[in-house]
Amino acid sequence: MLILGIESSCDETAAAMVEDGVRVRSSVVASQHELHRTYRGVVPEIASRAHLERILPVIHEAAREAGCELRDLDAVAAGIRPGLIGSLLVGTSAAKGLAWALDRPFLGVDHVEAHLFAGLLESTPPPWPALGLVVSGGHTSLFHWSGGRLRRLGRTIDDAAGEAFDKAAAMLGIPHPGGPGLERMAHGGDAAAVRLPRAMLGRESLDFSFSGLKTAFRLAVLAAGDAGDPAADVVAVGSTLANSTKSDLAASFERTVVETIVAKCVRALELAEQAGNPFRSLVLGGGVVANTSLRQAMLALADEADLEARLPPPRWCLDNAAMIAAAAHARAVDGDQDDLAIPAEPLSAWS
Ligand code: KG4
Ligand code: ZN
Repeated sequence: MLILGIESSCDETAAAMVEDGVRVRSSVVASQHELHRTYRGVVPEIASRAHLERILPVIHEAAREAGCELRDLDAVAAGIRPGLIGSLLVGTSAAKGLAWALDRPFLGVDHVEAHLFAGLLESTPPPWPALGLVVSGGHTSLFHWSGGRLRRLGRTIDDAAGEAFDKAAAMLGIPHPGGPGLERMAHGGDAAAVRLPRAMLGRESLDFSFSGLKTAFRLAVLAAGDAGDPAADVVAVGSTLANSTKSDLAASFERTVVETIVAKCVRALELAEQAGNPFRSLVLGGGVVANTSLRQAMLALADEADLEARLPPPRWCLDNAAMIAAAAHARAVDGDQDDLAIPAEPLSAWS
């Protein structure tokens, strides 16, 4: 079964052709990062206009790369939530239009769920149940995944981990999106240089909180720059710090986020074990999973806990359309489809 997936929820316009939910025949991603850099964040109106310009060339490129025609498709899928509504509408409308013109089923996919399916691309299904972890710019969520149903175990109660990475990076003068730049800056830094808080939110909680960390990081940057006034312009102070100080701050921040995420996963594994329904695998997804320290820590955890790990390569951690097609396939094989009237929505059921 060949499915075209389309993704346009934020600042990546993407299309991919995926066979049987796992074999990626093509995956094209047109990123808009340079359009938003000046504004230190994604500007919704600029994003939707750029999607509009790029969506058809990206779809044609995905078909060309896969060596097939649009009429070879068995279904068309799009990420319909969550995201910027103007951006979502571009990909969703293109997918619905194609499905209608080709007389093929249309499937609307939840972007957060799709991040988990990225872990199954070019791989074999993991033993169920899996502990699913999505760490992206908008979400930090833990799931119980039994292959069919997803049950959320925990989520961020404030900032997502990726958002915290981006905000911390901005304080050090790293351009948007700052996660990859902060990781580069952390190389060679002393991760024990600055002590930052790890929010655990009570013994049994599987929720995450990163806003306290963000505030503590802001104060640490100001202290490193000897700025006595807590209301000082942190970007001005952080940007002018010595490179070694920036590296220490970045490494300390990265370690804190990684350790917090690992601690929550350990807790989820323990709770499942105590309930007599232990997890058998670990499936990860979302842009922050491109981070090498997080990947290494999660692989070590999987090893220690004797779990099979499914870690997508960085290109499928970041927003892409192959994961959208994979998520749609899980429903399409059962003959499921959505009505073309299904709306795009800014929030996910998991938001
Ligand atoms: O999943 P994604 O591409 O988009 C959303 O669904 O949000 O995730 C983007 C997020 C951004 O916050 C970005 O800074 C972060 O993932 N990110 C990273 C790295 N690569 C991307 N964070 C830390 N280290 C990285 N290497
Ligand atoms: Zn995403």
